[in-house]
Amino acid sequence: MLTARSHPQQGNSNHQNYLFHLDNMSVEYGGIRALKNVQLTIYPGEILFVTGPSGAGKTSLLNVLGGHLEPSSGKAILPHQRSSKHFCSTVFQDLRLMQKKTCEENLWLAFDSSIYNSKTDFFREMEDLAKLLNVADHLNRKVEDCNGGFKQKIAMIRALLARPTALLADEPTSSLDKDNSYRLFEVLNHLNHKKGLTIVWATHNKELIKQFPGKIAHLDNGKLVYSGHACFI
Ligand SMILES: Nc1ncnc2c1ncn2[C@@H]1O[C@H](COP(=O)(O)OP(=O)(O)OP(=O)(O)O)[C@@H](O)[C@H]1O
Ligand SMILES: [Mg+2]
Repeated sequence: MLTARSHPQQGNSNHQNYLFHLDNMSVEYGGIRALKNVQLTIYPGEILFVTGPSGAGKTSLLNVLGGHLEPSSGKAILPHQRSSKHFCSTVFQDLRLMQKKTCEENLWLAFDSSIYNSKTDFFREMEDLAKLLNVADHLNRKVEDCNGGFKQKIAMIRALLARPTALLADEPTSSLDKDNSYRLFEVLNHLNHKKGLTIVWATHNKELIKQFPGKIAHLDNGKLVYSGHACFI
């Protein structure tokens, strides 16, 4: 059974054992400083909510953590540099699904014969996740015919099918109602407990943060102004 508060999420915070480390890290786009001297360490098994108003730098931060954006200055040490076994999956804010293809075709893009014993195993995992998120009956729909919330679930399943060490998710419930947002996060919380999945989740959803154990990194105008336990928000 999936329960939101079944075990407090701990992470493994032995300071040598980190997965991500940002040291005095800044990002600039032209003249705009989107992230300013950010200092942040994320440990295996942690759940970190990245919060902050629009334009605060959440997407830029996730893009650096995912290796999709180079810092302009400072250092970013990422999981694959710590161990070749580590892998990050990103659910981008704009989802990056192939609109003309069906949902199932998009999910098959995550198939990797080096991590699955067979296509049957992959298909079973796809079906299990699709059932958990209540999309199993509609995987033959073209993405362009699906609503925003459905697309977010497909993007999340695709990211999870890559069996990542860390999942980076950029406002992945912005088009989902409360029940569906909770359901999605319950599934992730379960993977966090069962498999030690590290989760970095950019969100405006304070209700969700209150329901699930985790830490917070709060950005304001590119600065990391709070980093710590979520109970203080
Ligand atoms: N490619 C870009 N070129 C120029 N400026 C950018 C670019 N991407 C982001 N910015 C600027 O950097 C700042 C941080 O943007 P970012 O998208 O990281 O914020 P955000 O917290 O994710 O915002 P939102 O909540 O709206 O998604 C903003 O001022 C934004 O306008
Ligand atoms: Mg953003």
